[in-house]
Amino acid sequence: MKTLFSEHISRLQKVVQDILEKAFLDGLWIYSGKAKTWFLDDQTAPFRINPYFNYFFPYPQAENCWLCLDGKNKPKIYFYCPEDYWVSTPTVPTEAFFAEEFEWILLKSENEIAKFIPNPTACAFIGEDVGLANSLGFSQINPQKILNILNFERSTKTEFEIESIYQAQFSALKGHQAAKEAFFAGKSEFEINLEYLKTTKQSELNVPYGNIMAINYHSAVLHYTALDFDTNTKRYSFLIDAGTTVNGYASDLTRTYAFDSSSEFAELVAKMDKFKLDIIAELSIGINYLHYHTRMQQMISQLLAEHQFIHLSAQQIFEEGISRTFFPHGLGHFLGIQVHDVGGFQQNLRGSHKAPPEAYPSLRCTRDLQENMVLTIEPGFYFIDMLLNSWKNSRYSSAFNWQKIEDFKRFGGIRTEDNIVIRASGAENLTAKAELKV
Ligand code: GLY
Ligand code: MN
Ligand code: MN
Repeated sequence: MKTLFSEHISRLQKVVQDILEKAFLDGLWIYSGKAKTWFLDDQTAPFRINPYFNYFFPYPQAENCWLCLDGKNKPKIYFYCPEDYWVSTPTVPTEAFFAEEFEWILLKSENEIAKFIPNPTACAFIGEDVGLANSLGFSQINPQKILNILNFERSTKTEFEIESIYQAQFSALKGHQAAKEAFFAGKSEFEINLEYLKTTKQSELNVPYGNIMAINYHSAVLHYTALDFDTNTKRYSFLIDAGTTVNGYASDLTRTYAFDSSSEFAELVAKMDKFKLDIIAELSIGINYLHYHTRMQQMISQLLAEHQFIHLSAQQIFEEGISRTFFPHGLGHFLGIQVHDVGGFQQNLRGSHKAPPEAYPSLRCTRDLQENMVLTIEPGFYFIDMLLNSWKNSRYSSAFNWQKIEDFKRFGGIRTEDNIVIRASGAENLTAKAELKV
């Protein structure tokens, strides 16, 4: 990790240099942020680090810390480590693999930082706390031009970032295995989640996104995060969408299991897995992500025709937009420090935005694939009442096999999600590569 991080920081130093030259500035100050207090309360929400801070300093616990960057000298870390007996204070990671890349200054109180910022008007501030930035005298606060450059850089990962996301596959896969066993052992969603957290050594407060543990029809809610206690109802299916983080970088994995491995639903799960792997094998540099999303809509149209959910040809199912009812989200998204990482629509350093087409408003990426982009590939196939109902009075209603669809609603749906990196020769499936080793 040490060498990879050193290369990572070298690339970022060049980016900062370029930013400062273009903006005629002397430096960038990045604030890691601070846990927010609930309304009229003295309790705080869990701390979530400023992702731009984590990009340079991969330590997501670093609350109330500052980075000062000029692109030339060693980056300075102002690490907040007060003495306190009310709350636990963070360990200063002086032994960490990234430590040597920084010049360290330890802060014992919050107000101390002001004296280290002699020329705020010649620097830009990056962070959520605009009031704080104003009070310290910054006038350039989160300039969009600077964010555009950083976001665009973040959309093609360094080898350090790719390795972190790869490492995050292992812990997540172990957690998935424990959760799968708990499901087949008859545990409730709540208990399955506990198994997942225990195995991945995470608490509810530091998972990269709300864990989805959905039994039966619950998986038709795309971001289902309720956890019920039911162990009595007959079970048909289990969808788990859960990840972990390493150095602040996330994994984002989904698997679906059929309770009865000889059922037609099990066959559908296997076909969705194959669709995912087929698409991953097709990914190549220079092709727009939308192309693959559209291909997946066509594959699902084929599935709907073959399994006689819809009595129309696959082509008609696709062209009439019926497949979108069964696959209503995007094929995937950029993955990094943020689970839905930045830059999915941003076409260049200047920030040109390309929205998804009207037919696919939930698509989170409209980029041409480039080397070292990290993405998820997560096709889904669901039986969602709200979306199905809109066809009930349409001219295609008679083509829907309503009886069969009704019967399949008890399964909820299927999603299968892997994390991949685009390489010169095609996609490398980080999840599949880790699966071979766990
Ligand atoms: N876990 C959220 C997603 O798959 O996008
Ligand atoms: Mn997911
Ligand atoms: Mn995802």
